[in-house]
Order: sequence, then C-alpha cells, then structure tokens
Amino acid sequence: MQTRKLGPFTTSCIGFGCMNITGGYGRTSAADAITVLQTAFDVGYRFFDTAALYGYGESEELVGKALKGQRHDILLASKCGLQRDKQGQRELNGRPERIKQVCEQSLKLLQTDVIDLYYLHRVDPNVPIEESVGAMADLIQAGKIRSIGLSEISSEQLIRGHKEHPITAVQSEYSLWSRTPEVAVFDVCDELNIAFVPFSPLTRGFLTGQYRDHSQFDETDLRAKMPRFSEQNLPKNLALLPEYNAIANKVGCTPAQLALAWVLAERNQSMLPIPGTKHLNYVKENALAAEVSLDETTRAQLNNLINESSVVGERYSAQQMSTTDSEQEKQRLSA
Ligand SMILES: NC(=O)c1ccc[n+]([C@@H]2O[C@H](COP(=O)([O-])OP(=O)(O)OC[C@H]3O[C@@H](n4cnc5c(N)ncnc54)[C@H](OP(=O)(O)O)[C@@H]3O)[C@@H](O)[C@H]2O)c1
Repeated sequence: MQTRKLGPFTTSCIGFGCMNITGGYGRTSAADAITVLQTAFDVGYRFFDTAALYGYGESEELVGKALKGQRHDILLASKCGLQRDKQGQRELNGRPERIKQVCEQSLKLLQTDVIDLYYLHRVDPNVPIEESVGAMADLIQAGKIRSIGLSEISSEQLIRGHKEHPITAVQSEYSLWSRTPEVAVFDVCDELNIAFVPFSPLTRGFLTGQYRDHSQFDETDLRAKMPRFSEQNLPKNLALLPEYNAIANKVGCTPAQLALAWVLAERNQSMLPIPGTKHLNYVKENALAAEVSLDETTRAQLNNLINESSVVGERYSAQQMSTTDSEQEKQRLSA
C-alpha cells in the first residue's frame, strides 16, 4: 500500500481500525479477529488503531497476539482516558496517575515495550488538558510511548495541549457526512504540522449500502441509538445512495472505496483514515481504496451530494457519550 507521513513515522496511507473486532457493531470470535488482523497486515496495512476502551482490553489483547511477530513493522496506536473502572463500568478519567496505570496495562496486553502513538481518547472535563498531556509527556520520557495524539478535540484544547507537549496526530470523526473538523481543527493541524486520522471514515457503514433498515441494529450496536440511523431518519438518508452509487460506478470502485478515496484526497496527503471491519473481504476491498484517485469534478459532485446539510440527524444522540468539544465548537462558530 502507498505510504504517508504521520509525524516522525511513515506508514500505510490507510490504517486498520481495531474497535470492530470486539464490538461496536456486532461481535466476532477471537480466532476470526486474529485472522482478520493478520490478513490486514498481509494485504498491506501497517498502521493499527486500538484503545483501552475497545472490548475493555480485549482489542489490545487480540492485536498483541495477532501482530506480535510484526511489531517492528507496524505503527501501533492505542488510547487512554476512557476505560473500565474497578467496578467494571466505563470510566472517563484523564488524571495523570490513571493515564500511567492504563498505559502499563495496555503495554502488557499489546505485548510490547512501547506504543508508537498514544492518544487521549477524550478530554476529561475535570482535568485540565495540560495535566493529561503532561502525564503523556512523562510516558515519552520513560520510553513507554513514542508520540502523543488527541481524539475528538476542539481547536482550543488542541492548541493548549500542543503547548504542553507537541501533538503528533488528531483523531476525530471525519467523512463525507461528518465534517466538523473543517470548522477549525484542520486549520490548527495545518499550522502546527499535526497529522489527521479520520475515524469512522466509512460513515459507520452507511455509505456502503449494507444497512437499509433500523431493525438491522441490535441493542448492542452503537448505531441503534444514533440519530442518522434512526427509524425516521435512515430512510431519508438512504435516498442519497442511488446518486452516490452511480458516482462509484462511474469511477469504477465500490461505494466503500469511494468513501475512503474521498477522505484520502482531502488535505494534501496529511489524512490517514482507519476504517474498521471484521470481514476478510472488506479488509481487502478497503485496502484497494488507496489505488482509487478522484478528479476535481467527482470530488465536487460528492461534496454537493453528501454533507452535513444534506444528511438528516446529528451524529450522536444526547444520551451517547458525545464528546463534544467539536460539536460545541461548531455550534459556537455558527451562532
Ligand atoms: N477515537 C474515537 O473516539 C473513535 C470512535 C469510533 C471509531 N474509532 C476508530 O475508527 C475505526 C473505524 O471507525 P468505525 O468502525 O466507527 O466506522 P467505519 O470504519 O466508518 O465503519 C465500520 C462499519 O462499516 C462496515 N464496513 C467496513 N468495510 C466495509 C465494506 N468494504 N463494505 C461494507 N461494509 C463495510 C463494518 O462492518 P463489519 O464490522 O461488520 O465488517 C462496520 O459496520 C474503529 O475501528 C476505531 O479504531 C475511534
């Protein structure tokens, strides 16, 4: 696969999202997850994205098992700040001592001495970002991580975090239908030379056309409560697909590849999307998106067809842990 620069690293231009192998949108067995991860390596992914949150350690454990032999050939990214607490509940905690503890657990599960790119998964509203980033800077000093990333961050928090220690990458949702980083975060990334890693670049599967009915999502599926996939909104959003599919046909790629090619074509080589899947055929199909190039006319057509205004529903519901530094930023800027 073609490569791109990500801070001091050079890696595959498409990374592999390792949330899906342990849930989010349904489950797969540990054995199948390992096969998926090894196949991803075989077909050219060299950038693997996991987190302490995913499967509460199970994703990191599977990545450790599957890619132990390839550790020196991959860019390994994980995340702290969101994890399971002692009572087994989901915890948002960006305190320095907790970040360091979680990192030790992740290193064990990943079967490695050092994590290449370590993100703060979400800013803890009770902890100044300087303290969380400061703890991560200590981890660099201790040789436990190589670089720092921030996830779902506002431009303001990004600038503050970067002052404490240089930030290598921002990871936030970005796709044809989720454009919030265009408001201000991209400008800061450009100015500070920070790479951008778009998560959910396949619109959580929507643009692939595989999800045509709300009843396809069981209660453990994150999309069950996402407004864009609701019973009312999904049919309205699906009306965008015939024209979208016609563009994919014209380009000569699949709908999933078109979604990834659009992200790859944005912002001058500094985007490294991380699609996730638990299916071997999708692992290969998505990797081939690196070969698809889009001309200006096609990109303009896509931008006109699918954007935050043409889509019905917010990306998160009020109950979901939305984050929302970036959402607040958007509201503030558009107020
Ligand atoms: N930092 C954060 O807060 C954050 C949040 C969310 C995600 N992430 C990261 O980003 C990664 C990707 O995001 P995501 O999984 O939310 O969304 P995504 O990659 O946009 O979409 C994943 C969905 O698309 C389906 N899919 C994948 N390739 C396909 C293809 N070629 N054809 C048809 N369907 C396809 C998957 O199905 P199957 O799973 O059934 O194969 C899954 O349902 C995650 O794995 C995780 O590493 C980070």
